[in-house]
Amino acid sequence: AEDGYELWLRYHRITGKALLQDYRDAISGIYIPVSTPVSTAAREELQKALPALLDKAVPLQQQAQAGSVIAATPAQWPAINSLVPAASLQQAGAEGFCIYTTTGADKKIIITGNTDAGVLYGVFHFLRLLQTQQPIQQLSIVSAPKVRYRLLNHWDNLTRTVERGYAGMSIWDWHRLPGYIDRRYKDYARANASIGINGTVLNNVNANATILSKPYLEKVAALAGVFRPYGIRVYLSARFSAPIEIGGLKTADPLDPQVQQWWKEKVKEIYHYIPDFGGFLVKANSEGQPGPQNYGRSHADGANMLADALAPYKGIVMWRAFVYDSKGDEDRFKQAYDEFKPLDGRFHDNVVVQVKNGPIDFQPREPFHPLFGAMPHTPLMLELQLTQEYLGFATHLVYLSPLFKEVLEADTHAKGPGSTVAKVIDGSLEGHAISGMAGVSNIGSDRNWTGHLFGQANWYALGRLAWDHTLTSAQVADEWLRQTFTNDARFVTPVQQMMLASRETLVNYMTPLGLHHIMGYGHHYGPAPWYDKAPRADWNPVYFHRADSTGIGFDRTASGSNALAQYAPAVRKQWENMRTCPEAYLLWFHHVPWQYRLPSGRTLWEELCYKYQAGVQGVQQMADTWQQVSPYIDEERAEQVRMLLAIQLEEAAWWRDACLAYFRTFAKLPLPQGVPAPA
Ligand code: GCU
Repeated sequence: AEDGYELWLRYHRITGKALLQDYRDAISGIYIPVSTPVSTAAREELQKALPALLDKAVPLQQQAQAGSVIAATPAQWPAINSLVPAASLQQAGAEGFCIYTTTGADKKIIITGNTDAGVLYGVFHFLRLLQTQQPIQQLSIVSAPKVRYRLLNHWDNLTRTVERGYAGMSIWDWHRLPGYIDRRYKDYARANASIGINGTVLNNVNANATILSKPYLEKVAALAGVFRPYGIRVYLSARFSAPIEIGGLKTADPLDPQVQQWWKEKVKEIYHYIPDFGGFLVKANSEGQPGPQNYGRSHADGANMLADALAPYKGIVMWRAFVYDSKGDEDRFKQAYDEFKPLDGRFHDNVVVQVKNGPIDFQPREPFHPLFGAMPHTPLMLELQLTQEYLGFATHLVYLSPLFKEVLEADTHAKGPGSTVAKVIDGSLEGHAISGMAGVSNIGSDRNWTGHLFGQANWYALGRLAWDHTLTSAQVADEWLRQTFTNDARFVTPVQQMMLASRETLVNYMTPLGLHHIMGYGHHYGPAPWYDKAPRADWNPVYFHRADSTGIGFDRTASGSNALAQYAPAVRKQWENMRTCPEAYLLWFHHVPWQYRLPSGRTLWEELCYKYQAGVQGVQQMADTWQQVSPYIDEERAEQVRMLLAIQLEEAAWWRDACLAYFRTFAKLPLPQGVPAPA
């Protein structure tokens, strides 16, 4: 039975007689000249996949021959030097790969790279070519990752609950580690390696210092041991006050020599257990977490202290810019920029500042974070969220690649036109050595890992786009669908269209025209635009939408909070004018009169109503599409998705009805034609 556990690594027999025959003719066996831990992982994957895909024996060979799939570095099999262009290998760099078909009578397929990890990525890419039924006659592929740190961030607690996790409990079985190694750990590593993810932060950013204690480091080391052959390093979220909590010190002041010494020794101990430990992720002085500001020190002081402890081992600090508190600007939007921009240039070399895609918090749509482009002397990492905290949890189907691409392609204008967020975070705009992308994981102990089967696509997209942010959302969806379900175009084409439209559909039924953060207080599920009882003003939906009798939206122009001043002049100019501000961001930056006429010819109120209605219709279309394509896949997965789409449809209508009923109390205008009155 199909339950989604295998993710996109299903390796079912190739359908289509001619193609199967082509593949069988081209592949006689596997030749891997060495057995390092990583090359063993590559061999195991080929041995699992090829016989299954080709439905024939694909033996290990003692030497290369016609039809061999050869996976090795040139150092491991020197013949590669004469078969693969040196320039290609150079282009592949430290983690990239080359895949070449040799010419002549005894054709071979060579998968190579400068390191074992590169070869492993090449193996997974080759298997992807087969799984997606691509021609392999004349392969000449070179591929290298565009960013260096390609990470998952788990918000997993030591109790196995997962902050904002909707796919069951944490997959880390802390209680039985390090003695018991769940098979899932290896499958997790395989899945990540197959999409190029090379690091994982195991624990919640709201961190518990206990994970830095000896018994837990032994558990972490056991996981690191499973991940290592797959090119994946382990990182930990460090609680800033750990020296007090587990070190018995009276302070965690980063300028205190005893505190510095404590971290140095702690880091030494960590590397004793995990020699290739990646480093720390830190949430400090945000939402009640401890940090350097508790001692009158800056974020740079805190980050640099940890960075100095890690530097001898080449570890890094990923210091989060997601900060806000009651002392900052009245507009929460502005606080991260206000705090971090002045620190540009003050961070040590092994610090990277990790910035969420938008200035508030993982909304269905946000303008790009104003810090991108604003800190030229500091490497910035992009933090995206896979777990759908504000996007219907693991109940709603939404393909996030279009959201990721929208921010990657956004133009900061920091160094003139074309200064995209992608160029900021891949290091190319300012020539930074550190570059990175992280996704807050949506993985849990559910059989299918992500709760919603289509959540797998978001995990997949994060990895693929971190490897190559120039891939299109359509390409990524196409790959994922073919591997996860079927190559049958009668399924792939309509479902790909459905995926591509799903994010805009969700924006329409939740937060159209630039509305944001109007979800239920605390849990963030379902509509609650009326809510005004939160302990902080900037946790209240009413704070964000500001609807009143004159209009709706947050004025962030010079007449309002002036958050727009944080963007480059070219961006600010376009967005500060209601006429030129893209409709998608309108209510992010403007308080717009209900009767304001939009380019569509409709008033704002009418447009709001139509968008909500279009959102509901969009989900109806998704449900219809799914019904039509279900015969082309297994019943189990078809039925799971069908049931969830039915819930999503009900809830899209709930969003529309609740929001329009509430906003109408201010607009005092009739519902336009075609928008049904709430039942
Ligand atoms: C959001 C989320 C929190 C999380 C925080 C963060 O506010 O609701 O649960 O801890 O982001 O990113 O640190």
